Amino acid sequence: MSRLDIFIDRMVSQRACLDYAIAETAHMGGPVYELGLGNGRTFHHLREKIRGREIFVFERAIASHPDSTPDEDHAILGEITETLPARLADAGPVASLIHADLGGHNAAKNVAFAKTMSPLIAPHLAPGGLVISSDRMFFEDLEEMPLPSGAVQGRCFIYRR
Ligand SMILES: C[S@@+](CC[C@H](N)C(=O)[O-])C[C@H]1O[C@@H](n2cnc3c(N)ncnc32)[C@H](O)[C@@H]1O
Repeated sequence: MSRLDIFIDRMVSQRACLDYAIAETAHMGGPVYELGLGNGRTFHHLREKIRGREIFVFERAIASHPDSTPDEDHAILGEITETLPARLADAGPVASLIHADLGGHNAAKNVAFAKTMSPLIAPHLAPGGLVISSDRMFFEDLEEMPLPSGAVQGRCFIYRR
């Protein structure tokens, strides 16, 4: 497979998984957490599709497209290994949907970071909530779910509490 093939599979899978998760959690009122804003494409998608739920973005520093930038009250800036535990202390386990897209180009580093992040992400999820991630996560108490149609195995992962 070419890098272009892999990139396209990842994007198609991300959209399929996000759309599935948005619909599955639509009855829940808790906030949505976007972990990794980047260019803001997936944040923009969430904002276009989600009604009645706040979306909080966790990112080291804003570098997104102007149309895809959260307002100050919904941007939690800084090192995520610090901001995520701080948010848990303030808000508790309230998230209905968490989208984790924190990886870069180094596969080994992505695996190591997913191991670090898994115990920091899981406690945020309300019962029935879903995590969508671009990397396989290492959750002890969340169940891995089958992918929706349109998603490619290994390019996106879904977990439920
Ligand atoms: C792959 S990009 C996200 C792309 C985004 N989903 C989109 O559609 O444009 C990953 C983002 O995670 C952020 N990130 C990675 N590690 C982080 C950390 N330890 N703390 C805060 N942000 C981090 C990076 O700054 C980067 O913007």
